[in-house]
Amino acid sequence: MTQPYIVAKVADVPEGAHLIVEVRGRSLGIFNVRGRYYALPNACFHQNGPLCAGAVSGTVTAGPETNWQRAWGREGEIIVCPWHALEFDIPSGQCLAYPNRKLPTWEVQIHGDELAVLM
Ligand code: FES
Repeated sequence: MTQPYIVAKVADVPEGAHLIVEVRGRSLGIFNVRGRYYALPNACFHQNGPLCAGAVSGTVTAGPETNWQRAWGREGEIIVCPWHALEFDIPSGQCLAYPNRKLPTWEVQIHGDELAVLM
């Protein structure tokens, strides 16, 4: 059964920041992307690198919205694995390089002045 686990104070994860916590024996990253909170595993599927120790960044995109020209975008929404630089969309856990690979995600709730992960 899913239940909330308090992991941090809201003030510990200001907008644009992230924090690594332990929940039920798992290492997770807690992210604040423009005021919304997300949780991802601190483990990259590639070689089990410490994903959430990486930098939050943007990424290079090219599509109809940029007339197929390379452009920097999505600043603050992407976590970059520190070992070999795979990029992941923080809100969804989607790996940008491998469309068929997605990390699990957990809901993060605000309980007063604390953050709780539902696991
Ligand atoms: S372990 Fe994350 S990219 Fe290799």
